[in-house]
Amino acid sequence: MARKFDAIILGAGAAGMMCAIRAGSRGRRVLLLDHARAPGEKIRISGGGRCNFTNINTTPANYLSANPHFAKSALARYTPRDFLDLVERHGISWHEKTLGQLFCDNSAKDIIRMLLSEMQAAGVTMELQQEILSVEKTPDGYRLNISGGQTVEAPTLVIATGGKSIPKMGATGLAYRIAEQFDLGLVETRPGLVPLTLDPALLEKLAPLSGIAVPAEVRCGKTSFREALLFTHRGLSGPAILQISSYWREGDGITLKIEPDLDILAMLKAARRQNGRQAPQTALGEILPKRLAQLLAEKANTAVPLAEMPDRALEALCQEIQAWQIVPAGSEGYRTAEVTLGGIDTRELDSRTMEARRVPGLHFIGECVDVTGWLGGYNFQWAWASGHVCGEAI
Ligand code: FDA
Repeated sequence: MARKFDAIILGAGAAGMMCAIRAGSRGRRVLLLDHARAPGEKIRISGGGRCNFTNINTTPANYLSANPHFAKSALARYTPRDFLDLVERHGISWHEKTLGQLFCDNSAKDIIRMLLSEMQAAGVTMELQQEILSVEKTPDGYRLNISGGQTVEAPTLVIATGGKSIPKMGATGLAYRIAEQFDLGLVETRPGLVPLTLDPALLEKLAPLSGIAVPAEVRCGKTSFREALLFTHRGLSGPAILQISSYWREGDGITLKIEPDLDILAMLKAARRQNGRQAPQTALGEILPKRLAQLLAEKANTAVPLAEMPDRALEALCQEIQAWQIVPAGSEGYRTAEVTLGGIDTRELDSRTMEARRVPGLHFIGECVDVTGWLGGYNFQWAWASGHVCGEAI
């Protein structure tokens, strides 16, 4: 005998729980299924354990999508302020770290507890460690075979199983398979917010820099981000690199402008006036980490003291520091990517309800949809907003 509900939601992550809360509080009988042992595992590990749960400056411009207009409706109907109100109602203390990024003061677990308590109040049935064995369309809606030979049915099915990032944490790509099953279009998926790797020769050259972080502007084509850049033993990371990685494609070059707010040329000229006998790396060492200063001076082939460097030579050295061209070999892939770019083609979905236009009763929300935010709380805001508007509609 099939158990019947008004709505079945697959995936007890950020989007699925938010959708369940909204639908449940509107009186819907909701079944929320997940194959993991615990709900909201990505929330738990997010933001270094403090969950960067939203960004107060969220606008649609902070998202990548083949259709940049799609996210507007949901983002306008459920705003960062709405989520913050919920956080505050639950007495969770928070702080703004930088650039509008809001974090829990204590622990990301506070957010999970808040969502669980809201789900309980909304009468949501949550079942964990449930494998989704098959999904089938029936004249009345959807029938699912799940673990233990059980069958569940509902007129509405919401897919909130996230993307492919971090398979070790339970990412499966189920949403894309269900989209394919129902003949819905997909925008090619690729890892986003991910460290970039370097070819072995360059990696060896940059090995002494591993662990160094510097302020930088990183550019790829017309897009650039000013945040920290981190050299690692695998290549390049840090917020500036994670941000640009979502815009980077295999074969593209990127340009690093180290210390973008400093006029390094003026500083080197001043150093030359004050003490022309010093080596350029010594002068650079006053403003950059010493190992980086050393490597950049070597890269510019400067083996003479500052006094012997004409303006042209100083300019060439500055080019190496503030217009440093690198062609990354690749990215670390889904193993470490924070998000999956691409996904369910938004042309298939109604932006107000997240329902598939050609498949009544089937909805997609959260990361599996072709809407991907920048680093900084934007991805959770999309999960909350798309989950909320869907929960409002079903
Ligand atoms: P999410 O991945 O959260 O949930 C999907 C759920 O579906 C999971 O519970 C999973 O177990 C379940 N599932 C998957 N396949 C299934 C299957 N076959 N059967 C049953 N269940 C299945 N964003 C942000 O805004 N601020 C931040 O601080 C961070 N930090 C961060 C750190 C790290 C390390 C990562 C990897 C990611 C972030 N993110 C982030 C991104 C953020 O975590 C992500 O955008 C949201 O979790 C997406 O929410 P969803 O609900 O769509 O998917």
